[in-house]
Parts: sequence; C-alpha cells; structure tokens
Amino acid sequence: MISQATIQFAYLLASILLIIGLKMMSHPKSAVRGIVLSAVGMALAMIGAAADPSIVGYVLIGIGILAGTIAGVYMAQAVQMTAMPQMVGLLNGLGGAASTLVAWADLLQHPHQSADIVVAIGLSGLIGTVTFWGSMVAYGKLEEWDKLKKPYSLPNQVLINALLLTAGLLLTALMVWTDSVGLRIAYYLLIVVVSTALGLFLVLPIGGADMPVVISLMNSYSGLAAAATGFAIDNNILIIAGSLVGASGVILTQIMCKAMNRSLPNVLFGKMAGDSSGASADEVYANVRSTTADDVAMILEGAQRVVFVPGYGLAVAQAQHAVRDLSKLLEKRGTTVEYAIHPVAGRMPGHMNVLLAEADISYDKLKEMDDINPTLDSVDVAIVIGANDVVNPVARTDPKSPIAGMPIIDVDKCRTIIVVKRSLSPGFAGIPNPLFAAPNTLMLYADAQQAVLDIVKAVKAL
Ligand code: TAP
Repeated sequence: MISQATIQFAYLLASILLIIGLKMMSHPKSAVRGIVLSAVGMALAMIGAAADPSIVGYVLIGIGILAGTIAGVYMAQAVQMTAMPQMVGLLNGLGGAASTLVAWADLLQHPHQSADIVVAIGLSGLIGTVTFWGSMVAYGKLEEWDKLKKPYSLPNQVLINALLLTAGLLLTALMVWTDSVGLRIAYYLLIVVVSTALGLFLVLPIGGADMPVVISLMNSYSGLAAAATGFAIDNNILIIAGSLVGASGVILTQIMCKAMNRSLPNVLFGKMAGDSSGASADEVYANVRSTTADDVAMILEGAQRVVFVPGYGLAVAQAQHAVRDLSKLLEKRGTTVEYAIHPVAGRMPGHMNVLLAEADISYDKLKEMDDINPTLDSVDVAIVIGANDVVNPVARTDPKSPIAGMPIIDVDKCRTIIVVKRSLSPGFAGIPNPLFAAPNTLMLYADAQQAVLDIVKAVKAL
C-alpha cells in the first residue's frame, strides 16, 4: 500500500511541475514544453489521488478516466483554434460542476464536519454552480445560439444578483449553524438552486463581444471552487492547482479588460457591447474604394516598410502560411516587414501570436501595439487582414461607441492601408468602421487566404 507521505510527495512534485509549466506558458518559445510539463504534473496528481487508501473501488474511476480521455483527445483534435474560447468555457463549466458534485458527495458521506469544512463545502457548491451555469451561457453565446444572442436582463438585475449572492452566503452560514443532517443537506441543495439562478443572471445580460472576458472570469471561479473543494476533502493538490487557476484567471481577466480599456464592473454590469454608434453603415461607407491583388502588388513594389495587421478573419481563413510567404517575398526585395499585434485581436489572448508562430514567423517581427503605434506614420503600406474592431478609429473619436476608449492599432496613420476582408460587414462589436472609407484605404474583398495567395502570385509576376 502506498503511504500518505508518498502521496503527498507526488502532490508536491505535481504542484512544482504545474507552477513551472504555467511560467513557461507565458512565452511562445517555451509554451509547448510548459503544457507538456503541466500535463505530466496533472498525471502525477491523478496517480496520487488514485492511490488514496480511502478509495473503495476502481470501476467507476476507470470509467471516468476512459470517458474523460476519449472526450479530451477528441476535443483537442477536433476543435478549431477560433473555437478555443468555447472549449475553455465548457471545461471551466465542467470543472465547476465537478466541484459542486464532489462537495455534495463529501457532505453525504461525512455530514458531521467541523465548521471550516462545512463552509468550504457550501462555497464549493456556490462557486461551482455559478461557474457551471455562467460558463454554459457563455458557451452558448460564443456559439451564437439564436436564443442566447441577445443580452437578457431583469429590472434591477444587479440588486437581484446581490440578493442571490447574499442568500447563498446565508445558506452556507445556516449549514454551519444547524446540527440536523437533513437540514444541512437541504441547505446545500438550496445553495445549488440559488447559485444556478445567480450563474444564469450574471452572464445572460452580457453581450457576446465581452464573452472572452467572462470565460476568463469563469476560469478563475472554477479555480476558486476547486480550491474550496480541496479544503472540503483535505486534498492539497486541489487547493494548490485551484488557487493557481483562480489567480491566473483573475490576471488574464485584468489583461483583457485593460486591452479593451474597460473596467471589470463595466464589462459585467455596464453598457452592452453591440449597441450601435451614431452613424449608420450606409453613411460611413458612402465613399469606399476597392482594389485588386495586382494593384496591391504594384503598391507593395514601391514600399520600404510594410506592416501586417492580423485579426480574427486571418484565423478563420488560416491565412498565416500565405502571409509568411508574402513577407518572405517582400523581404527578399529589401522591404522591411513587421506585424502589429493588438492584445485582443482574434478571440482569445495571444491568438495572433500563436497563429503566426504556427507559420514560423519570427517573434522579433511581432510588435506589440504600444511599441508600433508611435512609428506607424512612417509605414508605407499597412495590410489589415481580417481585422476590424482593433483598427477602428471610432474607438478614439466617438465616446458613445461600444468600443470607445479601447486602444487600437492606429493604421489610419499609415500612408496606404489595404484592408483584406470579404465584405463591409462589421466585426465582433457590430459597428461600422470609417477606416474602410478613409481616403488612403483600399478594400480588397476576398477570403484572407485566397487574397494573400493572389497577392503573392501578382508580386512574383512583377
Ligand atoms: P473583428 O473585429 O471581429 O473582425 C474580424 C473581421 O474578419 C470581420 O469584420 C470579418 O469581415 C473578417 N473575416 C471573417 N472571416 C474572414 C475570412 N475568411 N477572410 C477575410 N476576412 C474575414 O476582429 P478583430 O479586429 O480581431 O477584433 C477582435 C474583437 O474581439 C474585438 O472586438 C475584441 O474586443 C473582441 N474580443 C477579443 C478578445 C480577445 S482576448 N481576443 C477578448 C474579448 C473581446 P467579413 O465578414 O467582411 O470578411
């Protein structure tokens, strides 16, 4: 039989691997190794948990591991990079549900616990259930399910949510206070009911454009729920891993809010993204000029400094390899090529970095928004590929716009701007973009990959 000391040592080792892995994930070069290291840490944690002497049978555990492995491998293979936020949302939600169920099982098995453990059980139920339902709504919104597309809210929604949270905390206190097992279990079930409503009401009023922030917040909640469950069942690795997830989720949420120049309360309770700004699309797009791949090739021939601005559409079209080929071609002709990276371009933090790294584009060519913005007026040609909101100048000029104050890549300051997208339809925020009608902008209407392949062909033919 494996001793407790060995199990705790495995947990310690797993924690160290998870912490080092997380640190390595913060840089693209070491990220893959960081993920592998974390996976080894997680495997070690699972082995440690499976060796626990209090386990009475392995059949159900085996079925769970098998089902989880099949689902995990399938999802990792099948999910598109652009659907990664949904997948993370789903996994957060399931993590929250797991915390609620484990705490519930612990309560049924050991209903007479000390006050601190009962508090941990109540909080697991509360945070875990909020995480589950909040994440499910966020998932549906990101998948653009018709019924969830529009933000829903009740009158005095913030007050209702505050009351629900207070009720959940009061019920936790009642769980501690009562001596009756029946009542304790009943209070727990009520906590689950109250936090189901809270999870739904927290996320239903938020617009689809803010969902990545919500997903990151739910990620943090799922970590807190796991840590609470760790206290409930006295499991150190759960406490450590849960705290890591909780803290990293909060940091990620903060980074996203900063990149959109929004406060978290504004995302959660503020105006809904997707509200229209003053001007209609017809007004904004009265004078749009379009171009062809051949013309773009000719413009590029005379350019000394070219900046690519990638966005969500580049990811959808998987145009990163074609873009790399075009860059190489231009560099061979003596052109300086850089990439301007907006922190929330795409649908998740680091989306563009990962995409471009996939095509072996060197990291030193990727310039952060704050670094490249002051130099954009010396750029001959900016090629905006499938980006929209992150280059929309109304963020600077229209205080009523849903993206007002969001820092953007100031491509409108470049000498010539080529925008590659399929139409004039809006981006995630749902608003028109006056950049497309600027006198120095030319629109190349096409799928991003096809457009760049056409430009490569035209440059070669020059
Ligand atoms: P968006 O503003 O969403 O615009 C993407 C554009 O890509 C669309 O206008 C679309 O136009 C075009 N597109 C789609 N498929 C295409 C294809 N196959 N070929 C060419 N173009 C294609 O993207 P963005 O500029 O990257 O901005 C990101 C948005 O997400 C921001 O609003 C941001 O606040 C929000 N957001 C992101 C994050 C993170 S962490 N990334 C977090 C929260 C919110 P067409 O349909 O005309 O082609």
